[in-house]
Amino acid sequence: MPTMAATQKESSDQNFDYMFKLLIIGNSSVGKTSFLFRYADDSFTSAFVSTVGIDFKVKTVYKNDKRIKLQIWDTAGQERYRTITTAYYRGAMGFILMYDITNEESFSCVQDWSTQIKTYSWDNAQVILAGNKCDMEEERVVSVDSGRMLAEQLGFEFFETSAKDNVNVKQTFERLVDLICDKMSDSLETDPAVTTGTPNARLTDNPPPLQHPNCGC
Ligand code: GTP
Ligand code: MG
Repeated sequence: MPTMAATQKESSDQNFDYMFKLLIIGNSSVGKTSFLFRYADDSFTSAFVSTVGIDFKVKTVYKNDKRIKLQIWDTAGQERYRTITTAYYRGAMGFILMYDITNEESFSCVQDWSTQIKTYSWDNAQVILAGNKCDMEEERVVSVDSGRMLAEQLGFEFFETSAKDNVNVKQTFERLVDLICDKMSDSLETDPAVTTGTPNARLTDNPPPLQHPNCGC
């Protein structure tokens, strides 16, 4: 957990080209908070502290020299917070809809979560289905194929992930950002540099190298 001062400093930083609001949703205990901590802080704990309401972290990534600030909202999976959490769906450009491959119920709820997205969010929001805890192969009850088929049916992309072993965490966020950029490029008002600058440009965590226009070296 960052200190409050650090969170505020980062979130109040206005120096970015784009801001994408992302939401992580899914049943309680599937690993949403762990997934975000792995991505933002590269940390993991096996202790379960169920999220109360909603929380967020900020991470900046770079694509084609454009600074994209990701505001990532981590929602509580518990039913009692549903009214609070769905209020945050509006304006979200991307969702990570998560289930736990060792928990059948979390998988059967995916359809309902998808309906919630359709009900409360922007029509163009991009969604990735993530089957988390893929490190727990021995306890697996949802096959990779079932996950993939459901994602296909719902029109979502799909990854199996592990917040614990750091499998496909970064890839899931990178793919979501790419999907959002692709969607933005359909809009005439988009700055083409971020979406079409270099074909297949990689998303990175590192700022572009400083340019020295007057430097002869
Ligand atoms: P709510 O906040 O209640 O909605 O739950 P959550 O989805 O945020 O779950 P959380 O991230 O708190 O994780 C629940 C439990 O699963 C914790 O004990 C985590 O350590 C564990 N966990 C999370 N991700 C993984 C994973 O990839 N592999 C394994 N083995 N355990 C995980
Ligand atoms: Mg949580």
